[in-house]
Amino acid sequence: MPAIVLVGAQWGDEGKGKATDLMGSDVDYVVKFNGGNNAGHTIVIDGEKYALHLLPSGILTPTCTPVIGNGVVIDLAVLFEEIDGLEARGVDTSRLLVSANAHIIAPYNRVLDKVTERFLGSRKIGTTGRGIGPTYADKMSRTGIRVQDLFDEKILRQKVEAALQFKNQVLAKIYNRRAIEVDEVVEELLGYAARLRPMVADTSLVLEQALNEGRTVLMEAGQATLLDVDHGTYPFVTSSNATSGGACTGSGIPPTRIDRVIAILKAYSTRVGEGPFPTELHDDMGEFLRKTGAEYGTTTGRPRRCGWVDTVVGRYATRINGVTDFVITKLDVLTGLDKVPVCVAYDVDGVRHDEMPVNQTDFHHAVPVYEELDGWWEDISDCRSFEELPVNAQRYVLRVEELIGARVSAIGVGPGREQIVSRHSLLGD
Ligand code: GDP
Ligand code: IMO
Ligand code: MG
Repeated sequence: MPAIVLVGAQWGDEGKGKATDLMGSDVDYVVKFNGGNNAGHTIVIDGEKYALHLLPSGILTPTCTPVIGNGVVIDLAVLFEEIDGLEARGVDTSRLLVSANAHIIAPYNRVLDKVTERFLGSRKIGTTGRGIGPTYADKMSRTGIRVQDLFDEKILRQKVEAALQFKNQVLAKIYNRRAIEVDEVVEELLGYAARLRPMVADTSLVLEQALNEGRTVLMEAGQATLLDVDHGTYPFVTSSNATSGGACTGSGIPPTRIDRVIAILKAYSTRVGEGPFPTELHDDMGEFLRKTGAEYGTTTGRPRRCGWVDTVVGRYATRINGVTDFVITKLDVLTGLDKVPVCVAYDVDGVRHDEMPVNQTDFHHAVPVYEELDGWWEDISDCRSFEELPVNAQRYVLRVEELIGARVSAIGVGPGREQIVSRHSLLGD
């Protein structure tokens, strides 16, 4: 029965992959509903590390059916590379289902993503360069290529021709790049069709039937609330809806079926790419968080920008996503600090803001108002109950919980699957 949405509360990399994996065999279907291989989820099982980009994290659970929903954009080369990589390590990927309506990242969109960023210079977004933005732009301008188009060569060719007629002008005349041949693209895409065909399904129908049969469906977001194209720090965002509303449009599961919304909040903040980040630290403390938290991108390897936890952002995530439960991850990284600052509000040109400023310029000028909590020194990585945590770590969690306005149901104390403190079941009371 339960349909659960899982989202990131900050700027991504909160540990969504680990949280999904945690629910493991209690979940029958894990649906990726937005984004593409811009995501990077690291999951550690029995000391073995898996890095997933395009496949839903549920692929690592043998009883779970992973689903790539209609809201996802798919780079087929990456899809099969990831499948082959997992199969070589003994992971069975044969249950994977792919929506016939998901869009394909065509080779020209990968090129356009990179040249556009270069062209923007200092005004760049800092994208992952995977072709995400141009592919969603095509989807909205109704010139995109969908999974189902691969099974009708005539239609596929027409669509590629139409797209390239325009894009080749842009590539050649604006960016001084060589034009891309229609045949080249059509052949590359058709090359994947036979292998893709058995995975393709009417995934929204499959998911509705699953829910009717009492199965548990988890909808797993890529990216996060402040990278959402509508609710994030536009234009420094990704090009999809990473918030809970996107779970409905990106999977075909209607809002009336959703029972819970779980948000993942890192015990501090990180961001990759450009854009405002009020609690960012440019000093030794930022370096401490980056080193201790191993904050280097799973997808691009870029060092992540680091700062203190921002409960204005957390509160905003609660509101926008309708969060019922939070998982706070990486609390272990904060061990060994005298004081742990928590951002409770912003000062914008002398005016206190307790909520996210509606005006983006104000957000760029926001100076954090901190509350300093006492730190703890004890190693918490083996704690498995809330009571085992040092009192100051408990106080930190309880204060953040109070400020973000939804209960904290689990706390991560290390990257391993078992390194979790559970307070409430994530699947229900
Ligand atoms: P995602 O994109 O939200 O799935 O997150 P990423 O995988 O990009 O980044 C989270 C990183 O933190 C991964 O390397 C995880 O293995 C790691 N991680 C997750 N939870 C914890 C935790 O509680 N403590 C520590 N130390 N690491 C964690
Ligand atoms: P997961 O799922 C962190 C960021 C990029 C860039 C902006 C736009 O692992 O949390 P895009 O390539 O999507 O057009 O880039 O969004 N970004 C992420 N940052 N985690 C992610 O995914 C991200 N996916 C995109 O760095 O600033
Ligand atoms: Mg990530």
